[in-house]
Amino acid sequence: MSSLAGDPRTADSVELADFGLFDPAIQQCPHAYYAKMQHEAPVFETAMGDAPLYLITRYEDIVEVVRDTDTFSSEFDTSGYISSELAERMAQLYRSEGGYPRVRTMLTADPPAHTRFRRLISKAFTPKVIADLEPTIRDITVGLIEAMLAATSDGSSIDFVEAFAVPLPVTVIAKALNVPDDRLADFKRWSDASIAGIGTNISIEERLEAERDVIEYQKYFARQLELRETSPQDDLLTKLLHARIDRDQDGIEDSEVSDAPLNMAEMLSIIQQLLVAGNETTTKLLTETMRLLGEHPAQWQALQDDAARARAVVEEALRLSTPTQGMFRVVRKDTTVAGVEIPAGARVVVMYSAANRDPQVFDDPQSFCPERAGASSHLAFGRGIHFCVGAALSRLEGRVALEELSRRLSSFELDVANTYEYHPSFMLRGLKRLDLRLTGA
Ligand code: HEM
Repeated sequence: MSSLAGDPRTADSVELADFGLFDPAIQQCPHAYYAKMQHEAPVFETAMGDAPLYLITRYEDIVEVVRDTDTFSSEFDTSGYISSELAERMAQLYRSEGGYPRVRTMLTADPPAHTRFRRLISKAFTPKVIADLEPTIRDITVGLIEAMLAATSDGSSIDFVEAFAVPLPVTVIAKALNVPDDRLADFKRWSDASIAGIGTNISIEERLEAERDVIEYQKYFARQLELRETSPQDDLLTKLLHARIDRDQDGIEDSEVSDAPLNMAEMLSIIQQLLVAGNETTTKLLTETMRLLGEHPAQWQALQDDAARARAVVEEALRLSTPTQGMFRVVRKDTTVAGVEIPAGARVVVMYSAANRDPQVFDDPQSFCPERAGASSHLAFGRGIHFCVGAALSRLEGRVALEELSRRLSSFELDVANTYEYHPSFMLRGLKRLDLRLTGA
């Protein structure tokens, strides 16, 4: 077996007995383990806290699991495991600080509630709203590239994560949510706080600190939504406020799907999801795309020769990077996946990152090959009713970023000092920094 992109190891050189979900060394590059699981234990039992956790790694099994929403529920906590002490202290904090209740919306809801949320968001976050963001995305992109070139005019290198991949999606989603420029730094802090507990093992104190920022976020957006009650604007927040289900027009026959408009706690949860799901993931995608292009100079050259290749490069980078490596599901009734019995109450993780390198679906899956057939059948955005709400937006950001980078840089190199260290999380995977040497066109 060939070695895995970004990892000198092969599936043959690792042992599943050594696998640990929270092992920082393994989180640096888990692909060899996932490849081995696909081969030897496609439903791999591990543990999270005291509870068993089943990792599902084959493409075909994952598609089956996410389709069967009766058996595999999305009513999980994104942090996976909340001890009773943490739950109690969080409840106390929300009471004392006047935070809004945390409610389940899209990502952590099942039908029929999920159906209602998706219908309502589709009224606000429309393809037109997204397409209309293109000029804004281009402006922000060009500004960031010019700033990077100015900062490196003395020949120094620059951290692409900090200088480009973080500010681009944050600024775009902030613009979409009409957040003024002077609140951008707060906006980024709230976004970071919202994902602090996802797939990581941080302490209770750190988690509570993050929740304080989340409450600050809630208060800011609650005020903005209240203001739009009386002074509507042409923005996403106003659209969310006024989103209504029309049973006939929306073709909803299921009487269990409520047509109630969104209440404040629900709107806050939805905006938080847009912010969380949109920022970190796109940052990680942009960074990994540049790493891949740096490692494959012929692909960079081909992109410079023909910017129309940007779309395909983004798809292939999504497949290989899979910023959302996996997602939880809670098993509602005893079931079997790939011959393995999984009891009701257990949690599973559908490992999208493993599926995206499944040799049954992708030829030579470890290689970066934007021209491969069927590249967009990857599961980086999930599949089925929870398919990513922001897929079109992040694809657009990725494409515009590549078009402008390939036009405005004559060349770039990965700095030799790079250590390629990833954030320690088994769920959200991305480089901490990526130092580049840039030459302007
Ligand atoms: C490269 C960027 C992105 C990646 C890799 C990504 C990945 C994903 C994945 C894998 C899911 C499915 C989760 C599941 O199966 O339960 C998902 C759902 C979701 N994503 Fe994204 N996402 C990205 C960007 C965005 C953006 C830009 C937004 C919003 C502005 C967004 C909003 C959401 C929301 C709200 C959901 C929940 C949908 C539901 O449960 O019905 N994502 N995303």
